[in-house]
Amino acid sequence: MDLGIRGRVALVTGAGRGIGRQICLTLAEEGVRVAVNDLFQERADESAGEISRAGGQAIGVSADVTDLPAVNAMVKRVAEEFGSVDILVNNAGIPAISARDAVPGTGGFFTGSGPEQWERTMGLITYGVLNCSRAVAEGMSERRWGRIINIISDAGRVGEPRLVAYSMAKAGVIGFSKALAKEVGRSCVTVNCVSPATTQTEATETWIAAQGEQIMRQYPLAKGLNRLGKPSDIANAVAFLASERGEWITGQVLSVNGGYSMAD
Ligand SMILES: NC(=O)c1ccc[n+]([C@@H]2O[C@H](COP(=O)([O-])OP(=O)(O)OC[C@H]3O[C@@H](n4cnc5c(N)ncnc54)[C@H](O)[C@@H]3O)[C@@H](O)[C@H]2O)c1
Repeated sequence: MDLGIRGRVALVTGAGRGIGRQICLTLAEEGVRVAVNDLFQERADESAGEISRAGGQAIGVSADVTDLPAVNAMVKRVAEEFGSVDILVNNAGIPAISARDAVPGTGGFFTGSGPEQWERTMGLITYGVLNCSRAVAEGMSERRWGRIINIISDAGRVGEPRLVAYSMAKAGVIGFSKALAKEVGRSCVTVNCVSPATTQTEATETWIAAQGEQIMRQYPLAKGLNRLGKPSDIANAVAFLASERGEWITGQVLSVNGGYSMAD
């Protein structure tokens, strides 16, 4: 199936590893030119290098998505290299403390949490999405073509213990997406959310290992397929929503979760 997005330009945030990295690889396979963002330049360059070696076009662009001037400078740099951003994937959503940090500090019970953790989580998820969307939405509207895809979490749909602030912030992104979809629909720009449940990435491997066999019981498809979610599951859904084929879909939340939650 031709997705009709060859030559389009995508910016994917937090894409130096994990789900974002795979979104970049999948979009590049469809002929999209990809700007790989990450807080850490070396991670962004690594993903971009992988795409280039496979024959695609990509650049690594580091910026902290919570910093609006830095985001604006990044979007300008992407425009100089590839032209305006057609597809924005707001993927950065797990706060990184350092480049070597494997399991960032989002967990723990609410009663043990405090402002420092809330600010880190809420800041990245809400301001990251606000800043990056603000930087590209006007241009998309002027050109009458655009896709904004926000990677949320089933935590934001059904709530997840030990991830209270994270659940709150991700739920906020759903409201943002629906409201913006109503504003920019007349300009042929779509805004949707893709909602993973547990997906095997560097950020979750230690936690998944600690869960043992019981985690498989929470996912109706896990036993049959003998696996949990993979970054490619999320990337395939993103590619479809980014495509020409998805032009009539906006303001929606698509869970890609092996059946973990089945919200209305
Ligand atoms: N992995 C899962 O099980 C899972 C489940 C549900 C939702 N999600 C969502 O999927 C997305 C990706 O998750 P992942 O597991 O691939 O995460 P990850 O931690 O493996 O990768 C995220 C990347 O984002 C970067 N990043 C962090 N803060 C940043 C900032 N301020 N600016 C730019 N980049 C920044 C990190 O350096 C990292 O390379 C997140 O939004 C997460 O909430 C993941």
